[in-house]
Amino acid sequence: MTPEARPTTHDAEDDPRNRDILIYVNGALVPRDRAVVSVYDSGFLLGDGMWEGMRLHNGKWAFFDAHMDRLFDSCRAVSLDIGMDRQGILDALTMTARANGMTDDVHCRLMVTRGVKVRPFQHPSLSRSGPTLVIIMEHSKPADALAVRGIRLATVPQVRGLPMSQDAKYNSHSKLNCVIACLQAEQAGADEALMLDPHGFVNTTNACNFFIVRRGEVWTSTGDYCMNGVTRAKVIEICRREGIPVFERNFTLVDAYAADEAFLTGTFGAQTPVAQIDGKPIGDNGGRGPVMDRIAARYRDLVRENTA
Ligand SMILES: Cc1ncc(COP(=O)(O)O)c(C=O)c1O
Repeated sequence: MTPEARPTTHDAEDDPRNRDILIYVNGALVPRDRAVVSVYDSGFLLGDGMWEGMRLHNGKWAFFDAHMDRLFDSCRAVSLDIGMDRQGILDALTMTARANGMTDDVHCRLMVTRGVKVRPFQHPSLSRSGPTLVIIMEHSKPADALAVRGIRLATVPQVRGLPMSQDAKYNSHSKLNCVIACLQAEQAGADEALMLDPHGFVNTTNACNFFIVRRGEVWTSTGDYCMNGVTRAKVIEICRREGIPVFERNFTLVDAYAADEAFLTGTFGAQTPVAQIDGKPIGDNGGRGPVMDRIAARYRDLVRENTA
């Protein structure tokens, strides 16, 4: 069954230039239709790899250090030797951007896996030829329609796990937990999934972090079971700087349904309004409102400053 096209938080304007992009594969720049990795690759066989999504503005990678902190911390935690330092990664990104003539409105997926295995089994010691590093860069402008229409979320049975199973802070190639959640949301007629934590508190979505606004206060989960999103951290930083009360706290669906505004955060879409949760409209204006708009404006300023 081919899934029908429906809105997602990663919808971009169609850009025909993306048909001819060059992909970085272990130091080589390869046309996209010939950019491949081995079927013995640890990423393909097991989802054994880490990735970062980053955006290029004015020829610079927004919040590069924060992305590298997360990538290197995760790889260290799973003993995955990237085989290069941050400068090496930056050089590879620069080479790919230059080869594609890209400077603005670019999204990159930087992926590193434990590399090619000698046999198709799980043990990490079977990965003996060094890591696989792939960089996909696309011309990408988030679709305007989503900012207007907002995203529809459904709460799903799939929850965020405890950190001693597979810590949600790993931006790992294996996103099956999130994919299952997203499928459940689609099957419930929504666009994406709102996921609870093991105690039933509202946590995050399958691909973004989640915020609500209630009576001028901004609430997000404690952060214990969700991705330590770079955009999430920036939104919290902006609220603190702007004097907007912000709380990382437990809250329930009762609080979320009654929110005045709700929005998602992620590198791709920055802030995306949430129009509905479980069929219930959020606020009076498709989930958006003055608090999110103020945060979004300051976030755009921050990106501009960071990439000046
Ligand atoms: C599950 C999940 N939540 C949230 C995010 C957003 O993180 P960031 O703001 O760093 O893009 C991501 C992005 O990788 C993600 O995979």
